[in-house]
Amino acid sequence: MSVRRLADDNVQPQSFAFNEANKAWAAQTINKYPAGRQQSAVIPLLMRAQEQDGWVTRAAIETIADMLEMPYIRVLEVATFYTQFQIKPVGTRAHVQVCGTTPCMLRGSEDLIAVCKKKIHHDPLHTNESGTLSWEEVECQGACVNAPMVVIFKDTYEDLTPTQLEYIIDRFEAGKGGDVTPGPQIDRVYSAPAGAPVTLTTDTPAPKFAARAEVPAAAAPAATPAPAAPVAEAPAAKAEAKPSLDDPNRPAAVEKPATLDDLKMISGVGPVMEAKLHDLGIYTFAQIAKWTEKEIAWVDGYLAFRGRILRDDWIKQADALARGGEEEYVRVFGKKPR
Ligand code: FES
Repeated sequence: MSVRRLADDNVQPQSFAFNEANKAWAAQTINKYPAGRQQSAVIPLLMRAQEQDGWVTRAAIETIADMLEMPYIRVLEVATFYTQFQIKPVGTRAHVQVCGTTPCMLRGSEDLIAVCKKKIHHDPLHTNESGTLSWEEVECQGACVNAPMVVIFKDTYEDLTPTQLEYIIDRFEAGKGGDVTPGPQIDRVYSAPAGAPVTLTTDTPAPKFAARAEVPAAAAPAATPAPAAPVAEAPAAKAEAKPSLDDPNRPAAVEKPATLDDLKMISGVGPVMEAKLHDLGIYTFAQIAKWTEKEIAWVDGYLAFRGRILRDDWIKQADALARGGEEEYVRVFGKKPR
């Protein structure tokens, strides 16, 4: 953890004031706490000040301290302790916080930092030329199971490769960060195993809540039990239309060749995805390199890849690997394939 100090005086504004809407919100927030406990509002107020001005200024710290009747040093301690608070001006479109703690480091955070150095600024907490982007390394952000990861504003982006991070930074730089779905960037649901569940995989249905909540007959308070309340079904997950196997946009399948290409060399393809591609008769780099836009959309939709084919530029990767293997890949991308 680096030392966190307030920004230099020459960038500190003379004063701070919440705008009218935030002033009303702050009063409401402070009132949530019992008399004498208003100081508990310090974190939400600091966060609101940051959302309003883009970073937490010294004037904001002092204003909030006055509002909560706290010594300035106490609010300063909070603002400098939590890396969620930016105490220096940061990029206006994205401030990328790369977790560099051990699990993320072992899973490639150093490569993510290299991306930030290349695309934003060599040094942390410096903005790029246009002032839109900045980055820093932070300690564990609590998403280690999906390492490596970054935080941008209030969202986490997990299971990252350098290619994916470059894509995410580009979207934010273009003012389209909202296009990127936060959370895992691979075929994983939240923090479940990548690809598919590996435990509790039998088809035995789970007991419904009503069955577990049944009152034993001996303890029933009335001779005639009331009719059981209908069991509330969990709302069905929003189903996305899955293209059919007969769809004309499905890429042509081939017979399994004697020698298979290692599709896992494509960044973003793991063993589970490779097996799914094999199931569709896709075994070689050359096949993937020739996919049309419609075929990409079909594979993406059928295998629920959520845009990762384009995001990771599988076509360009597969094309390089098909033409010249690892050597050509290094020539095109400046690094070895996975
Ligand atoms: S180590 Fe990176 S999120 Fe925990």
